[in-house]
Amino acid sequence: MPADFDGEYWDRHYGGGAAHRVRQPTVHLVTEVGDLAPGTALDAGCGEGTDAVWLASRGWRVTAVDLAATALERAREHAASVGADVADRIDWVRADLTTWTPPGKGFDLVCAHYVHSTAPSGTLLRRLAASVAPDGTLLVVGHHPSDPHPGQPARAAEAHVTAEEMAASLDAGWDVLVAGTRTRPAGGPGGHGSTARDAVLRARRRR
Ligand SMILES: C[S@@+](CC[C@H](N)C(=O)[O-])C[C@H]1O[C@@H](n2cnc3c(N)ncnc32)[C@H](O)[C@@H]1O
Repeated sequence: MPADFDGEYWDRHYGGGAAHRVRQPTVHLVTEVGDLAPGTALDAGCGEGTDAVWLASRGWRVTAVDLAATALERAREHAASVGADVADRIDWVRADLTTWTPPGKGFDLVCAHYVHSTAPSGTLLRRLAASVAPDGTLLVVGHHPSDPHPGQPARAAEAHVTAEEMAASLDAGWDVLVAGTRTRPAGGPGGHGSTARDAVLRARRRR
């Protein structure tokens, strides 16, 4: 297990100051989820909550989970600054996704973006998949192995994955709608002023 990516690492990461703040939602979330009717959502490894706030502002009822207390503090502040109607639609939960059991019968959407889990490959993805309600959507985004990502801890092999590897972790109860490599402008935290290459998996759980 790479000690780099434990709770202490992430608390230090977010404790580093305003430079870590990201205020644009993940581009793949906007692309893949923009056409879905709002329901319940789990933002797994929500970081500073930008995606959770984006979902809530579109009417989703969001459970946003992260290991890092510092990230969740910022996320709460961010949501409050957007407005009480948005903040009230988000439950912030400090928990380790590798052991956390979600309440209820499953979410209409489970998304996880760049969560460099310390769990063995596929383990977290299967846990997340189990949290999706029938007919619900799973969206997982990771750094593709061909992504340069210089100077970042994410360059560790454990943080890289292909969409095909992710799709292979799903059982027959899923329709894979997207499994491929996507590019995006690599600005902001972890960015390097060029183009990043991401692995994107979108799948729908069969009824
Ligand atoms: C690179 S950040 C991505 C944050 C956010 N999803 C985004 O796209 O901006 C990875 C996040 O996953 C969280 N994380 C990593 N492993 C986790 C685990 N086992 N349980 C909960 N959160 C975890 C970290 O604390 C961190 O906030």
